[in-house]
Amino acid sequence: MKLDTSYLGLKLRNPLVASAGPMTQTADRIARLAEAGVGAVVLPSLFEEQIRAEADRDERLAEAGTDSFGEAMTYLIDPDASIWPRRYLSLIERAAGSGVPVIASLNGSTPGGWTDYARAMQDAGAAAIELNIYYLPSDVLIPGRDAEQRYVDILTTVKAVVSIPVAVKLNPYFSSLGEMAVRLDRAGADGLVLFNRFMQTDINPQTLTVSAGFELSSPAEATLGRSWIARLRGHMHASLAASTGVETADDIAAYLLAGADVVMTTSSLLRHGPAHVTVLLDGLRAWMERKGFGSTDEVRGMFAAAANASQSYFGRVGYLSAIERATRTYAPQ
Ligand SMILES: Cc1cc2nc3c(=O)[nH]c(=O)nc-3n(C[C@H](O)[C@H](O)[C@H](O)COP(=O)(O)O)c2cc1C
Repeated sequence: MKLDTSYLGLKLRNPLVASAGPMTQTADRIARLAEAGVGAVVLPSLFEEQIRAEADRDERLAEAGTDSFGEAMTYLIDPDASIWPRRYLSLIERAAGSGVPVIASLNGSTPGGWTDYARAMQDAGAAAIELNIYYLPSDVLIPGRDAEQRYVDILTTVKAVVSIPVAVKLNPYFSSLGEMAVRLDRAGADGLVLFNRFMQTDINPQTLTVSAGFELSSPAEATLGRSWIARLRGHMHASLAASTGVETADDIAAYLLAGADVVMTTSSLLRHGPAHVTVLLDGLRAWMERKGFGSTDEVRGMFAAAANASQSYFGRVGYLSAIERATRTYAPQ
């Protein structure tokens, strides 16, 4: 049974990737994921703000002079910061010893000097960079084209400073997601990750407070990414990674059938721990055996749409039949 897979031009032993999140935040946890059999890991994102803050701090320390160094450090270092840039580089170095490819992640929303950090990540041993472009156009008058251009600009800025592959992790909130994906592909993205999950703030009417909403995903959320992967597969040179809603081996199988090169998971690893990697991979092997597949290459894209497939198949036909089915199932008396 051949599970090996190519993603971003990297050879992985199988298509299961631990996506960015707390499970990949320490070298110990990464070692456990590697032992359980994961194909690759994506480190949690280093934020544009963290890189800028560290650069500012260095500058202020330099201005403060060596005599006041100790005092300045106590004022300027935020002990609660999750992964500061230098610690991040050391995490890459240690994680690279785990034996699986380590993908570093940068989260930003503006093209700027901070993107040079991608180069430091490469030098520390990252096999690839994942760009988690978290841009919420909160200016309500910003034209869609300008908002989209940021994604392309950030990608090209990062591509200019590294020689390792670069993937872009997308959200589904574009007017024409397909065209956005094709633009990123043409701009040199080596892979697209579909989709990120936004943690949006919400209002609690009982406590009269605003809080950051947070819940792990459920398999029902995978359908959006799956249908876009199936739709995009025939149009992309870039690799496609699925992210969101993996809980069982069947969820992985369905993403591969849609055309994903790799399938990522965070929520299931947080729920069940690193050993769940083995459960998922054993389940995938058992499913392939039952269905008579000898390799993931035979599975991949079996249900992807042909590049010239009719729009209606993936659009209105599915929508109308879903409404009919729901009406039959929940028919009001
Ligand atoms: C606690 C937590 C932290 C996360 N941190 C990051 C991050 O730093 N960078 C990133 O790109 N995605 C991050 N994610 C998103 C995951 O990588 C993943 O895309 C998302 O959770 C959907 O996948 P899932 O359904 O397998 O959880 C985080 C998710 C969770 C739950």
